[in-house]
Amino acid sequence: MILVLGGSGLLGSAILKHLQRQRYPARVLTRGMGDWRSSNIPTLKQQGTEVVVGDMTDPGVLTKAISGCTAVIHAGGSFFQSNPDEMKSVHLDVVGELTRIAELGGVQRFIHVSCLGASEHSLSTMMQYKWQAEQVVKDAPFYWTIVRPSYFYGASFPFLNALLPILKLKPVIPVPGSGLSEIEPVFVDDVANVIVQSLYNRGSVSKVYEIGGPVTYTILEFIDLIKDFMKIKTPLMHIPSDSADKTAKVFGKIVKNVHTDLIGLLSVDSSCKQEDQELPAELSGLTLEEHLGAIIQNL
Ligand SMILES: NC(=O)c1ccc[n+]([C@@H]2O[C@H](COP(=O)([O-])OP(=O)(O)OC[C@H]3O[C@@H](n4cnc5c(N)ncnc54)[C@H](OP(=O)(O)O)[C@@H]3O)[C@@H](O)[C@H]2O)c1
Repeated sequence: MILVLGGSGLLGSAILKHLQRQRYPARVLTRGMGDWRSSNIPTLKQQGTEVVVGDMTDPGVLTKAISGCTAVIHAGGSFFQSNPDEMKSVHLDVVGELTRIAELGGVQRFIHVSCLGASEHSLSTMMQYKWQAEQVVKDAPFYWTIVRPSYFYGASFPFLNALLPILKLKPVIPVPGSGLSEIEPVFVDDVANVIVQSLYNRGSVSKVYEIGGPVTYTILEFIDLIKDFMKIKTPLMHIPSDSADKTAKVFGKIVKNVHTDLIGLLSVDSSCKQEDQELPAELSGLTLEEHLGAIIQNL
């Protein structure tokens, strides 16, 4: 049995599809948020996926979810958390508990979803937690693989959702630093495919896979692209990265969901740096621009 944390999310749902294609038995942990009309629990069950309802920050829930599983894919935790305590809990603390409980439960294979751009001294707190969580996984005794995707999109694009409040600001859109940091939006199905193809591939053990592209955008190019698609005419205003905190505080008072970490994220490279890596699956080559119209219509 394979436990998929985050199996109801954007990436997790794509992972489940790939697991189903391979006929691998899967279990999903979900908090089952929302009411019965919006719940995807019945659909998951109809698809033959086992469901455990609970919060992954609760060790008791993790123990129940892991029981009887030989593999864990950790794709849980929303990319965008505005509460700093929740951010640490979901991106770092959970990983410590999860690896501990997985070891006790006899899990042999562990695939961990991190983030392209995770680094020890990042300007983004989330990227720091993601880096620390990677170290926890690397120290664990089972066969691990770490997957570091850049910002991914499917029917939705969480990075764009996070950015929207800033893009809608008037009279200027603040851009931290030079705006030259790079991102490589990637199709979510490509990320899911790499994860599932890694699962029982000996060559993927102890590997860190970077997944991004095919197109690299600077933040300035990316914002221009979105402005074009959304017909936004507001001019950009560069702000020094070290005053991002102040800017976030000022804008945070007027616009919901603008906070320090988003401003930090915009200053961080999320692009592939490993030149000689061999992924266990080929990427489709699909580009964001092919999907952007539909994504924006769904906003
Ligand atoms: N989105 C990106 O562009 C991006 C890029 C790089 C890395 N990542 C990483 O990829 C992972 C998945 O991202 P995503 O965009 O697919 O997320 P998402 O669509 O926001 O879904 C989040 C998933 O995590 C689960 N989750 C969150 N908090 C939970 C909790 N306390 N207990 C149990 N389940 C919880 C949610 O389950 P329920 O709501 O059903 O409980 C849901 O299945 C995250 O670790 C994220 O940091 C994302």
